[in-house]
Amino acid sequence: MKKALITGASSGIGSVFVRELAGQGYDVTCVARSEEKLQGLTKELGGSHRYIRADLTDANDLAAICQELSDSKYNLLVNNAGYGIYDHFGNIPLEKVHHLIRLNVSALVDLSHAFLKSASSGDALINVSSALSLLPYPGGAVYSATKAFVTNFTEALWYEYKDQGIYVMALLPGVTDTNFHHVAMAQRDYQAPSGPSYPPEVVVKEALAALQKRKSSTLISGPKYRFLTALATRLMSRAQMISMMGKGSAGL
Ligand SMILES: NC(=O)c1ccc[n+]([C@@H]2O[C@H](COP(=O)([O-])OP(=O)(O)OC[C@H]3O[C@@H](n4cnc5c(N)ncnc54)[C@H](OP(=O)(O)O)[C@@H]3O)[C@@H](O)[C@H]2O)c1
Repeated sequence: MKKALITGASSGIGSVFVRELAGQGYDVTCVARSEEKLQGLTKELGGSHRYIRADLTDANDLAAICQELSDSKYNLLVNNAGYGIYDHFGNIPLEKVHHLIRLNVSALVDLSHAFLKSASSGDALINVSSALSLLPYPGGAVYSATKAFVTNFTEALWYEYKDQGIYVMALLPGVTDTNFHHVAMAQRDYQAPSGPSYPPEVVVKEALAALQKRKSSTLISGPKYRFLTALATRLMSRAQMISMMGKGSAGL
């Protein structure tokens, strides 16, 4: 039986990955901080699906998940745990900036390393980035920069591992209906994100279709976001594109 480990499995995109992969016959290990939600999810799925409670910004918890990836053979890792902070850069205390980078960047790099050390032909790594990784986001400057790191890092790994038959993919969702925006705007009055929004089921369905094909290095999920991103990155100057993102920003 194929085994998958999903981080950020307690809600949103991660929990849909869990359900879909379990439905495809994977034995799934769910990782996040919210033990009750993980317990409920694995109980509902039944079988040998399990969870490990871990705060991936905690060095000991992160080391334990890396150890799990080294000790037990997994065929798929979905590095999905992540969050954003939408505010003017100067309003965000530096320790919060560091916390964000620890989860979105450092933990993802450590887990990718642990997984790829024992990966073999047929295995796959999906790193969940964001369409904002291609579009600098004033009002979410650190968040979009962490995701720029994830996309760039993952695309390079796609090339490094493809000749070994190990598939690495950067998944770049556009706005998705999850708890993400409430967390990102926890310090501000909540503003619904502008632009089209997709249910997490659409994001995961497209990702799993790409996983079957094992070709693309990068998947922007949601047809409207594929179009809008192409428009903004190919037809506008950088200054025009950044100004457009700033004017529509939920963080300013
Ligand atoms: N929603 C969007 O519009 C959107 C767009 C582009 C990209 N994304 C990306 O998609 C991914 C999933 O987000 P989502 O939209 O599904 O939001 P979500 O519903 O808020 O899910 C975030 C997940 O990350 C987990 N998490 C947060 N901090 C953690 C920590 N310190 N240690 C371990 N797990 C942690 C959360 O679980 P616990 O709180 O239980 O730990 C939760 O399961 C993120 O990487 C996000 O950046 C989302």
